[in-house]
Amino acid sequence: MADASLLQELRGVRSTTPSVWFMRQAGRSLPEYRALREGTTMLDSCVRPEMAAEITVQPVRRHGVDAGIFFSDIVVPARQAGLGVEIQSGVGPVFEHPVRTVADIDALPVLGDEYEAALEPIREAVRLTVAELGTTPLIGFAGAPFTVASYMVEGGPSRDHLRTRALMRTEPEAWARLAAWVAELSGRFLRAQVLAGASAVQLFDSWVGALSAEQYLTHVQPHSAAALAQVADLPVPRIHFGVGAAHLLPQMHAAGATAMGVDHRLRLDQALEVLPAGTPVQGNIDPAVLFTSEEARFAEASAVVEAGAAASGHVVNLGHGVPPTTDPQVLTDLVSYLHEMDDVAGAEQGVPSA
Ligand code: CP3
Repeated sequence: MADASLLQELRGVRSTTPSVWFMRQAGRSLPEYRALREGTTMLDSCVRPEMAAEITVQPVRRHGVDAGIFFSDIVVPARQAGLGVEIQSGVGPVFEHPVRTVADIDALPVLGDEYEAALEPIREAVRLTVAELGTTPLIGFAGAPFTVASYMVEGGPSRDHLRTRALMRTEPEAWARLAAWVAELSGRFLRAQVLAGASAVQLFDSWVGALSAEQYLTHVQPHSAAALAQVADLPVPRIHFGVGAAHLLPQMHAAGATAMGVDHRLRLDQALEVLPAGTPVQGNIDPAVLFTSEEARFAEASAVVEAGAAASGHVVNLGHGVPPTTDPQVLTDLVSYLHEMDDVAGAEQGVPSA
């Protein structure tokens, strides 16, 4: 397993054939997912070990991607800790009681033995998944403190995260307590997945791009670092990913990541210029090409492989998640195209792209 080329790329050891997985590869783009999920809510499906394991394996079986991403959600830990949260279709996570005041933050549950026990369905799902995946590695994940706390403060999805960013400025100490709580929540969720068999982790900070570098460093980075520190003693690569976060890449890396996910707004060779030398990267095919001609799609895939060729390691991915309306065959064909590309990465290795 440790030999899997995707894990090697994440450790900075190149292979001649590109390794690839897709964020949100499990889920609504797959008819077999929709069939299995019928009659079960999203969050209930996450705590049914057999179902979560099967959903995780579906895209690996279908597309031949080089890793599974554990089927769960960034709000599953909050739910297991006892908060009222659901996922509304077409909307996203919605919290029953938004967390906005010092009193709300004081009332958050203690993350003790009960929380650890509530993670058992997660551990069981990971064990079942790993057994089913065989030599294909499983990537565990969690939501980063800013993104998860933003859902908690706003009560649901938000464009500007204004309440969250205002809380940081007006009540910095209360914000710090909330973010520290989420770091513990998400960090222990990550640790549970790795101890149960996940071979790498990814910390998603989807909405961090809303912050300036200054705000990030003061109010967020220490908490993302605390979440990642929960798995730092375990021998797994730690990928960190944000959307619209080109201005935060070095700071996010310094939170304790060992590899950086990059969205489609920044070319990988440009990302490499701002990251410490030797940082493996992941990304960043524009999801929009899933809705173009095959020619345009393969050209984008080749350009991404070429832009990542100068990195110590590169795992191909999309620049953000698979849209639910994606034709699954398009993903399968993209994986085949990448896997047949061998030598492109090898030939370009070490040669800065033009
Ligand atoms: O395949 C995978 O990537 C693994 C599973 C996964 C899900 N959510 C399953 C899911 C992962 C890694 C996530 C992470 C997640 N969840 C993030 C970070 C990644 C990102 O995309 O930025 C965020 C911001 C969330 C919050 C969330 N959960 C949103 C915005 C939504 C979509 C709501 C909608 O209906 O448009 C969800 C629901 C969700 N999470 C689904 C899946 C498969 C869809 C549920 C359904 O089938 O209705």
